[in-house]
Amino acid sequence: MCGIVGAVAQRNVEGILLEGLRRLEYRGYDSAGMAVLNAAGELQRRRALGKVAALEAMLEEAALPGRCGIAHTRWATHGKPSEENAHPHQSGNRLALVHNGIIENHEPLRRELEADGYAFSSQTDTEVVAHLLEREYRHGDGLLAAVQRGLAQLEGAYALAVVHADEPNVVVGARKGSPLVVGAGIDEAFLGSDPLALLQVTDRFIYLQEGDVVRLADGGKIEIFDAEGQAVQRPIQTFEHGDGAASKGEYRHFMQKEIFEQPAVIAAALEGRLGERSVPSECFGPDAEALFSRVEQLHIVACGTSYHAGLVARYWLERYAGIPVQVEVASEYRYRTVVVPDNTLFVTLSQSGETADTLAALRFAREQGYLGSLAICNVPGSSLVRESDLTLMTQAGPEIGVASTKAFTTQLTALMLFTLALGRVKGLDAETQAEVVAGLRALPQLVSRVLELDDAIESLSTEFAEKHHALFLGRGAHFPIALEGALKLKEISYIHAEAYPAGELKHGPLALVDSEMPVVSVAPNDELLDKLKSNLQEVRARGGELFVFADERVGIEAQEGVRVLSLPHVHDALAPILYTVPLQLLSYHVAVLKGTDVDQPRNLAKSVTVE
Ligand code: G6P
Repeated sequence: MCGIVGAVAQRNVEGILLEGLRRLEYRGYDSAGMAVLNAAGELQRRRALGKVAALEAMLEEAALPGRCGIAHTRWATHGKPSEENAHPHQSGNRLALVHNGIIENHEPLRRELEADGYAFSSQTDTEVVAHLLEREYRHGDGLLAAVQRGLAQLEGAYALAVVHADEPNVVVGARKGSPLVVGAGIDEAFLGSDPLALLQVTDRFIYLQEGDVVRLADGGKIEIFDAEGQAVQRPIQTFEHGDGAASKGEYRHFMQKEIFEQPAVIAAALEGRLGERSVPSECFGPDAEALFSRVEQLHIVACGTSYHAGLVARYWLERYAGIPVQVEVASEYRYRTVVVPDNTLFVTLSQSGETADTLAALRFAREQGYLGSLAICNVPGSSLVRESDLTLMTQAGPEIGVASTKAFTTQLTALMLFTLALGRVKGLDAETQAEVVAGLRALPQLVSRVLELDDAIESLSTEFAEKHHALFLGRGAHFPIALEGALKLKEISYIHAEAYPAGELKHGPLALVDSEMPVVSVAPNDELLDKLKSNLQEVRARGGELFVFADERVGIEAQEGVRVLSLPHVHDALAPILYTVPLQLLSYHVAVLKGTDVDQPRNLAKSVTVE
């Protein structure tokens, strides 16, 4: 995913910008570039396909001295990875711009600007913004006003940084739908799409809010304007050091930390990928739209927790994109004869991108005549990502706990983005797209509310610590969530747990139900609720202890033998993501009570790179 760095400093900024780009490399990208205004007031630019090291080599040959500049790592959406498509983009030789996100109305704007005589040298949506701002700049009221007027004409998501040679010590930044932070230095000011990009120069940050525009100027001057153009003050916050990913911080275990990171990482997975009312297919790369329009079937292959994400996605994809979906564990798929219908897309899901069975399945699939392959993965540069035609990174950050938590919920988030992008191409009605997009926007906040149930779930966990078995029930897209809940409990507490679609209870597992068998059920407010309630009665009638996670609007009453935990109401399609969280917390607390090795459970490995 793209990264932005900008600086207005008392010294040459080339090294600062380059270090910033290096710190953003982990996000995955395909090209990098930088533009700096030199002492003579000239705009100079270098761009390189490939790694930041390639840009660095270019700068060693021909440096970019100057105290004001912008830089970027690009992950291709509109237009293939190439030097011409790399940022910064210029309009003439006076204005340069870097951009993250997607401009949805770039096509009409491009036509309009071409009619006005602007010549385009790339296939990107970003170059449209460069020319648009140049046109606004001609009004003669300065870069800030030009950006404010230009932004009013854009639809979509963006963070951007722009410089103009007429204002040699100014960088203007803006955000809407993609993050941007201001770094406050001593008489210097910086911009970054992530504070990590700027930690080498400052630990004091202003987190811009939606619609904010910022003007950084000489001497560390920072002026911020809200979406209405009103000057506003935003607080400066000191970044808490403590090597984020590698330390547990205030948490007792990595798993616990990773569970609590979910609101932030789900937001990161959504970052720059949501249009106003739809999900543009460009999030999946420049070739996605053409490929999606040809897709008639999907085969999803994965292992472990990632496989459960695939099972949930089947419900979504068939409901919203209207195409048949098959989901299979990789270790089975790779060794059987598969029949591949015409125009089938092969999809792999993996946190690590290195799981041997999933990788082998992809390599096997390449020989089977699929339309192409898509990897939804958390590790940029992993084998799976390198070998797939299309990729979508889940942006969960490093996951250390062996039992997967945040990687799963971000996979689900990415899969819903995929569902909506594919659905849009397949004619899903605009109202439904807009509703789910709004639901996704609200999701991080709802997950935070579920995390507030931590104490209540911890007290429930005492009921499980002495048990040897547990049953998890769900219906519809919540059956895979029951599977995932059971897997979590098995993995870290070593309690034997099984999951069933609740309607199957009477066909066997009901025989196991007695007072020693806790039965966990997820009961969102969906169309299967009434049926699920009857299934729960079947358990209660046999003396089984029920633990129900239910929508706050659902009428399931706590009573003798039935414990109910209410979850906030959520769009029904997104409930599987929300209902995963209490099950993670339950397993975690049971494992802590049992004193097992939560982060590194016996016999299991984080990344299984052998067959
Ligand atoms: C191992 C891990 C699981 C994970 C599975 C698939 O079994 O312990 O947590 O779900 O591998 O890993 P992947 O990296 O492909 O998602």
